[in-house]
Amino acid sequence: TTPLRLGIAGLGTVGVGVVKIVEEHGALLSARTGRAIEVSAVSARTRDRDRGVDLSGYTWEDDPVALAKRDDVDLFVELMGGSDGPAKAATEAALALGKPVVTANKAMIAIHGQALAELAEANDAPLRFEAAVAGGIPCVKALTEGLAGNVITRISGVMNGTCNYILTRMESSGLPYAEVFKEADALGYLEADPTLDVGGIDAGHKLAILSAIAFGSRVDFEGVQLQGIERVSIDDIHRARDMGYRIKLLGEARRTEAGIEQSMRPTLVPADSPLGQLEGGTNMVVIEGDAVGQIVMRGAGAGEGPTASAVMADVADIARGLTIAPFGQPAATLTPAIRANAATQCAW
Ligand code: NDP
Ligand code: HSE
Repeated sequence: TTPLRLGIAGLGTVGVGVVKIVEEHGALLSARTGRAIEVSAVSARTRDRDRGVDLSGYTWEDDPVALAKRDDVDLFVELMGGSDGPAKAATEAALALGKPVVTANKAMIAIHGQALAELAEANDAPLRFEAAVAGGIPCVKALTEGLAGNVITRISGVMNGTCNYILTRMESSGLPYAEVFKEADALGYLEADPTLDVGGIDAGHKLAILSAIAFGSRVDFEGVQLQGIERVSIDDIHRARDMGYRIKLLGEARRTEAGIEQSMRPTLVPADSPLGQLEGGTNMVVIEGDAVGQIVMRGAGAGEGPTASAVMADVADIARGLTIAPFGQPAATLTPAIRANAATQCAW
């Protein structure tokens, strides 16, 4: 068989992690998938930057759209970020040519997921986004593959590591939100636009993606009832602790008779529960299915290795020739989401 040649657009934290895995685990990937996987061409904004990996063997392309269209690129890997702009343009260019796309871009999938899935299917091009939700935790595959025989009844979890870091650090240090926010910034944890993290938007994107897969509905980010952590005070945290609870930015998606409830907001969880014991930047995704019961997945939701691990899982599936609809069933069969209001559990 011929090698699967990757074109990687975006050589930041995740892109560099993907290059490293392809270079370091080539034999393993080939043995597992039956096909050699290699990097063919790459793109980023700045060419002459030391990224800690040797890129001299790969063709450089300034324009991500041109990269996506190259004849020596069989699979386009989108790791630039941003819901629109070059990420979307290059993804569309690859799909229109019938090329598979793997992306970690939760904002793009949460906002344009339905249109991109339709474009992908119209062109028989796989579109995969395991890394878009909860970094290294394989929750997209759990839903689309491992739990395909279940009616999914509920999804919940902590899906933004930065918020969990801030909340747990406030508790352990006694420092107020504003101080811990500054610490998180100094540690490089915050997105370029921190509102994406602390406003709950990033976590809301992830919940909307999982909810669409779980309930067979069109991804509906606007339907997520969102509240960030900016107004959680140190007094709130101490009061919760005194009652045996902790405050988490908790996401929950359920299908009810009235429609689909999606919420992402600060919530009291029992301190001795799996969610209550979640520390630092870790993520947890809890899935409930009628046949399987409850499954709890916990792990790193961000970072070079964990996120690249998820990207490579999708790349490996494509190397194996697996064809799975982006949201687990054909895009045309996804129903418009009927929204139902999630009951308020706790308001800040
Ligand atoms: P970075 O900011 O570290 O890297 C982004 C890369 O994209 C950079 O190499 C940048 O170039 C390049 N880039 C940006 N705009 C353009 C453009 N217009 N043309 C060409 N290249 C461009 O991002 P991350 O690696 O952290 O994230 C990548 C994606 O993965 C995002 O969608 C993010 O949401 C997602 N993700 C990230 C996680 C993480 O832990 N970091 C976890 C889960 C998902 P240059 O380097 O030259 O500036
Ligand atoms: N800002 C995100 C987080 C990165 O803190 O979880 C991973 O998606």
